Amino acid sequence: MLDVAAGRGRQTRPLLDAGHRVTAVDVSAVGLALIDAVDQHELRTVVADLTMPLPAALKGPFDAIVCIDYRAPALWAGLRTRLEVGGHLLVSLATVVNLERHARPSRRFLAEEGEQETILGPLEPVQSSAGWRDSGRHELWVWGQRPARMA
Ligand SMILES: C[S@@+](CC[C@H](N)C(=O)[O-])C[C@H]1O[C@@H](n2cnc3c(N)ncnc32)[C@H](O)[C@@H]1O
Repeated sequence: MLDVAAGRGRQTRPLLDAGHRVTAVDVSAVGLALIDAVDQHELRTVVADLTMPLPAALKGPFDAIVCIDYRAPALWAGLRTRLEVGGHLLVSLATVVNLERHARPSRRFLAEEGEQETILGPLEPVQSSAGWRDSGRHELWVWGQRPARMA
């Protein structure tokens, strides 16, 4: 699995605990160093600026890619190509509607209207929704799966 913009491992750690092999990528080496892996053999960390072309270390293919609370619109297409056939892409982002109640995150970090389609591209949609969550944030959740043939 690939955890994109993994930070301190909020997603990476439970994935490792569940027995998955995880590649965690983030621009911050400090954050990645804080990931407290029970079994370091199952964790690979990659320091990379995701606004730049994806590094060879992230070639994959991955059975699943998660990207939570990080937005780089140019990134979605690259992530899709790193999925194995049948692999899953899961993205969760606060949306622009969130600005009705919260000044932050600022707009560039928020999913715009129609971003669900931009994220999914040619992936098969599995489940997606947008709405106010128990956390008090308005979030978009997108889950897609790579088909056998992808343009
Ligand atoms: C809001 S945090 C989310 C972290 C984690 N996904 C989570 O849900 O807790 C955003 C993360 O994006 C990372 N980040 C920001 N700009 C980045 C960039 N250009 N390339 C890679 N990571 C970046 C930050 O270092 C931070 O860890």
